[in-house]
Amino acid sequence: MNRYERAWLFFAVLMVVAFLGIIAYFNFAAGLKPPQEAEVIDPLTLSTDERFSSPRVVEVVPGEEYEVYMVARMWSYYPREIEVPAGAKVRFYLASPDVQHGFHVVGTNVQANVIPGYVTVIDTSFARAGEYLIVCNEYCGKGHHFMKARLIVTEGER
Ligand code: CUA
Repeated sequence: MNRYERAWLFFAVLMVVAFLGIIAYFNFAAGLKPPQEAEVIDPLTLSTDERFSSPRVVEVVPGEEYEVYMVARMWSYYPREIEVPAGAKVRFYLASPDVQHGFHVVGTNVQANVIPGYVTVIDTSFARAGEYLIVCNEYCGKGHHFMKARLIVTEGER
């Protein structure tokens, strides 16, 4: 084997070992985990959970405060379309019954992972009315690129 080939091979193997080492460090030594206060949920019980068995938008204070319960599963979100008014406080609760999914509202800074076993909570509000695309940005299988939903932000009432 040419010595340059050998050098490159050594370098490539070294990189793989370094990457695995970094992952192992954060996983075991640094204890990087979802936040301690994250609510734990059995992914197999979503269909009987009061919030996630009927995913929906709840109007807490009309025009001002909303809660959105959403299920992210292979390969869609439920509900597929949600509507909230501009400027209102919106709290998303997301859960997955199968694998890890992403939740990204395109054109905003709303972005989170939905990890089976945990409830993902996102507090946000949308200043501008319009239609937003929600996409999964965590590879979740062969239908990953079809996984999307629609967010409609209506004009606020004032
Ligand atoms: Cu769900 Cu990718």
